Amino acid sequence: MIKYLGSKRRLVQAISSLASGCGASTAADLFTGTTRVAQELKRQGVNVTAVDTATYSEVLAQCYVGLDATTVVGAEASQAIAELGALPGQKGYFTEVFCERSRYLRPENGARVDAIRDAIEVRHRGSWLYPVALTSLLEAADRVDSTTGLQMAYLKQWAPRSYRPLELRVPELLAGPGRAIRADAREALASLGPVDFAYLDPPYNQHRYFTNYHVWETLIRWDAPDHYGVACKRSDSRSAATRSDFNSKATMPVALAEVVEAIDATVVVVSCNDESWLSREDLVRMCAARGHVELLEFDSKRYVGAQIGIHDPAGQKVGRVSHLRNVERLAVCGPRGNVLAAIEGWRRRSLEALEAGPLAAGSTGLGPVRL
Ligand SMILES: C[S@@+](CC[C@H](N)C(=O)[O-])C[C@H]1O[C@@H](n2cnc3c(N)ncnc32)[C@H](O)[C@@H]1O
Repeated sequence: MIKYLGSKRRLVQAISSLASGCGASTAADLFTGTTRVAQELKRQGVNVTAVDTATYSEVLAQCYVGLDATTVVGAEASQAIAELGALPGQKGYFTEVFCERSRYLRPENGARVDAIRDAIEVRHRGSWLYPVALTSLLEAADRVDSTTGLQMAYLKQWAPRSYRPLELRVPELLAGPGRAIRADAREALASLGPVDFAYLDPPYNQHRYFTNYHVWETLIRWDAPDHYGVACKRSDSRSAATRSDFNSKATMPVALAEVVEAIDATVVVVSCNDESWLSREDLVRMCAARGHVELLEFDSKRYVGAQIGIHDPAGQKVGRVSHLRNVERLAVCGPRGNVLAAIEGWRRRSLEALEAGPLAAGSTGLGPVRL
């Protein structure tokens, strides 16, 4: 499970229960990020299209959503990953920029990333193993990085996990059809086709995924870009082409409303939280354009940075984080009967989780709040 801001790890079960409640067999996950939600939908037999603008997200989606495990030979992946994992380190761009100039990984692990990434390009480009090997490498790097989850500033002292040797694992491929699309959510609408269920989880604020996860962008693109600043961010972070309308207070509500209104889906679920630019009322108003709306609210732990606290450049703790929890919202909208069926699916799964014990129940949250 990679570290990702806004990842819906704790809401995955709630979202997939909404899809099963309304009997969805096709779905779109339009801001798919880690692809966690798309993976869970695929696990329950739904044909999912996963969309995101990030290059690393496209690769994750090609691996977990686009590939059908029944059409490939798993042993080939195991062998390819084992051979890549056995390569000796060879210092290159990645080591110099992300392990010496900045401190994303320890240099000995960085040199292995350089060697493995070069070999993936030579051995697997154009084959189904390409996204599998890249996913394995990205996840391996994430397990031994020296960050608090964002790639904007690194820990003053190397994180204890960064001393562990980089270890490649074979990603767990899922059976069934699916699609990965790298595109702006609005542009992707034209090629989506009708779906039974759509999940929309846009960025909530001005913090850009392109800069927060710039090391992954470079690891996947392997284009050795010019860089700037202590974190060695890609120079093209400054270009308008890498900006998203969903990261600006002025444009986000309009852009999201366009997607909510235009998407060809029966039931649409929109994620938001109480720190987003979109108030509860705005969210409900936006979703009402599709018919009936139900709102689920979940008490939730804030992102890892808030848990760790605020630090000055010397690593000293300064100030206090105002709060450690927030409210995650899921607005479920569409024709009334379909929305109520989705909510019923969620309610059933919540009851089952409650019966299974408090830990499982914690992942299903509170609500629904009737409007
Ligand atoms: C809150 S995160 C989604 C997290 C995801 N649901 C998960 O569980 O991992 C928002 C995502 O929106 C993507 N994004 C930003 N602008 C976008 C755009 N214009 N079109 C599509 N995706 C975009 C980001 O790359 C990021 O992965």
